[in-house]
Amino acid sequence: MKIATIGVGYVGLVTSAVFADLGNDVISVNRDKQKCENLKKGIIPMYESDLADLVSRNVKLGRLKFTTDYAEAVPNADIIFIAVGTPSLADGSADLSQVKEAAATIAPLLENYTVVATKSTVPVGTNRIVGEILSAGKKSNATFDLASVPEFLREGSAVKDTMHPDRTVIGADAERSREMLIKLHKPLKAPFVLTTIESAEMLKYTANSFLAMKISFANAIAEICEKVGADVTDVMDGIGMDKRIGRAFLYPGPGYGGSCFPKDVKALIAIAKKAGIDFHLLHAVEDINAGQIDRILDKIKIMVGPLKGKTIAVLGLTFKANTDDVRASQPIEVIKRLLKLGASVRAYDPIAVPNAKKKMLASLDEKKFIYAENTVDALKDADVAVIITEWDEFVRLDFSQAEKVMRQRNVVDVRNLFDPEKVKAVGFRYVGMGR
Ligand SMILES: NC(=O)c1ccc[n+]([C@@H]2O[C@H](COP(=O)([O-])OP(=O)(O)OC[C@H]3O[C@@H](n4cnc5c(N)ncnc54)[C@H](O)[C@@H]3O)[C@@H](O)[C@H]2O)c1
Repeated sequence: MKIATIGVGYVGLVTSAVFADLGNDVISVNRDKQKCENLKKGIIPMYESDLADLVSRNVKLGRLKFTTDYAEAVPNADIIFIAVGTPSLADGSADLSQVKEAAATIAPLLENYTVVATKSTVPVGTNRIVGEILSAGKKSNATFDLASVPEFLREGSAVKDTMHPDRTVIGADAERSREMLIKLHKPLKAPFVLTTIESAEMLKYTANSFLAMKISFANAIAEICEKVGADVTDVMDGIGMDKRIGRAFLYPGPGYGGSCFPKDVKALIAIAKKAGIDFHLLHAVEDINAGQIDRILDKIKIMVGPLKGKTIAVLGLTFKANTDDVRASQPIEVIKRLLKLGASVRAYDPIAVPNAKKKMLASLDEKKFIYAENTVDALKDADVAVIITEWDEFVRLDFSQAEKVMRQRNVVDVRNLFDPEKVKAVGFRYVGMGR
């Protein structure tokens, strides 16, 4: 099939590369000329396992092309995927300006029959708006059907997730578009969930909000465990074996971050509000999540007392491991708060330092804050090591080496990566989350 994708972020680029790899002809439209030239050479704009190889291979095979010109991609496409960003507006609702702009640019270029499918996470009713924009702007002989095909990939394993999804959700009204989308996705061998457009739109927000709720639930239980002398890992292992509950996402930590969960929880609250419903449960999910930063700071203070004049090593700058995405990063939030409280910070991340530099520029005080070269460099003269991201190299932290360079032997293990007894055995004071 001939596929056009609009937007080359995580979703647009991975979708393009995977469909090209399945033998389709894909043209990916992107507004940034430099990004486009880089992609043609196989240089990808994010750290994502296996993606650069997949892009290079399919560019070489001539199945994957990049352009800044919609007119190269849209007129011949059988299916167009809109995969642009939908960040939060100030009131928490989704900003649909990128989606609307993409639709308005596509409209006059449509030829014959095309399926216009939205992969961006959008509130119920958005595809109808896209339809109105397309109808208003298209030539009279062009026809189209709309579809909502939400994406469930995770950053850090995006290629694997897209190649092997748990399910493929296709929200479509017309038989023709549904059949074309089924044909395209069939090689992925995932069960299909065939719904209306509205249900598919709603389904994606429901999935992300439910996962965010599991994270906040684990964090709330962890706090109680600390107070009553229970170990949250045992508690979650025990309940996670119950098939009705499942173990995934029941890990306490710094709370949810990144480019999706925070904005999608907010957007679902806004969708509910528009429908006249106050989604109390999700307000609580947000409150618990916001409180995790305070909890991390409290643990650091318990270890070292007042923060003024103390040096804190922060290991990890991303919301989770295996990505360089620093959008809504809890470690960056922790660092900003530490600096405000008078501490000095030495931060290290194996991959995300360049992105963090762009984001933290405004609050950077070089006397108080440095990007360390590696883990040992971050730990130099530190009063406490705070491990916030679960990168493999932090899991393998060598405490005997750490002991030699740190000023005080204190560890705040925000991801419960270490065996507390083993850490204590080499002379460190240890606090984790809920244990
Ligand atoms: N990142 C994820 O893990 C993930 C997972 C599932 C779903 N989603 C959803 O998918 C959507 C995209 O997310 P993302 O992380 O890929 O976003 P992103 O911000 O990484 O990428 C969006 C891309 O769209 C481009 N763009 C914006 N307007 C454009 C236009 N008019 N024409 C051409 N290109 C345009 C931007 O330049 C950018 O490259 C969002 O709605 C998000 O919620 C994201």
